[in-house]
Amino acid sequence: MYESCFNNTFTNELVFYVLLSLVFLISPFLFIWELIITLRSSFRPNENMSGKVVLITGASSGLGELMAYEYAKRGACLAIIAIQEPGSRLEQVAQIARELGSPDVLFLFADVSKIDDCRMFVDNTVKYFGQLDHLVCNAGIGPIYSIDIDVSKFEPVMDINFWGSVYPTHFAIPHLMKTHGKIIVNASSSGVLNVPKGGVYNASKAALISFYESLRHEVSPKVTIAIVTLGFINTHIITAKYSTNIAAGVRLKRDIGDVYPTMAPGACAKAIVAGVCKGETSITQPRFIKALFLVKFLFPELYRLYVNMYFSSMHDKLQKGGG
Ligand SMILES: *[C@@H]1O[C@H](CO)[C@@H](O)[C@H](O)[C@H]1NC(C)=O
Ligand SMILES: *[C@@H]1O[C@H](CO)[C@@H](O)[C@H](O)[C@H]1NC(C)=O
Ligand SMILES: *[C@@H]1O[C@H](CO)[C@@H](O)[C@H](O)[C@H]1NC(C)=O
Repeated sequence: MYESCFNNTFTNELVFYVLLSLVFLISPFLFIWELIITLRSSFRPNENMSGKVVLITGASSGLGELMAYEYAKRGACLAIIAIQEPGSRLEQVAQIARELGSPDVLFLFADVSKIDDCRMFVDNTVKYFGQLDHLVCNAGIGPIYSIDIDVSKFEPVMDINFWGSVYPTHFAIPHLMKTHGKIIVNASSSGVLNVPKGGVYNASKAALISFYESLRHEVSPKVTIAIVTLGFINTHIITAKYSTNIAAGVRLKRDIGDVYPTMAPGACAKAIVAGVCKGETSITQPRFIKALFLVKFLFPELYRLYVNMYFSSMHDKLQKGGG
């Protein structure tokens, strides 16, 4: 019965504008809704992490390491995972976590892009601690894609960022069901906000969001999934040094942090763990990024215009170096 309306170009457009006006009309209420959600979560009791078991992948540096410390301060037992590489700081991270208050820390070297490794570290964690409460799928890499780089170099991005979260999740779910646990997914805001040269990295994050949003329906309310979408956080992954050390990708001459407003990683890790313990299901930091999501979905052309102006000048600055 509505079909004829969508077949006609004019009425098709009309319906769109009517709906858009409706969205604007109710937008004051959406603000109130957001406010209520924020207030409600600040009154919700914190999960008592004392003696709980948290598994974190990619914990030898960056936000993974800092999140391990946040959990340690809350008295959680930790299983921290990182890939075996010369000079890995994983053992030091375990030591610091113990000093910060974690009753027991297990550290294991594994490659999250390998199924057997993931099965191994989930099984070992449960064997050692007897349970699993939080799984933090944090490990990730982020080379900058460009059409003139050999495409096969980008396969590991999907393997580590996407499969490296899905495999551990798969093996952890039966254990998390028993403890009514949580899964924390690292899906950078680039999963939603695509920027030039984000290519494979941004796509791997978009795939994560898609996967976990539908998994949510299957495992809730027993298991809570928290999807973390972050803007630029000042970790080594956005520095010039990182882009030169990694096998593939565009080389940067300057750190992204110098030309783009970034959030301090310590504050960010704190905000994530606090949000997770409050039972939040989607965490965006810095918070203003959320407003950009809305613009992108409603006005994709406008968003593209903004990105073109902003990021093309940013990429220029990054690759020219200097000042
Ligand atoms: C948290 O749990 C531990 C042990 O399970 C208990 O000893 C402690 O009192 C609890 N803390 C709070 C603030 O409820
Ligand atoms: C998420 O992954 C990125 C790389 O893809 C990494 O820089 C960051 O530390 C990871 N952790 C969080 C919580 O975003
Ligand atoms: C998209 O990917 C690029 C390149 O890896 C990354 O630098 C950027 O942070 C991502 N986009 C956003 C909005 O985070």
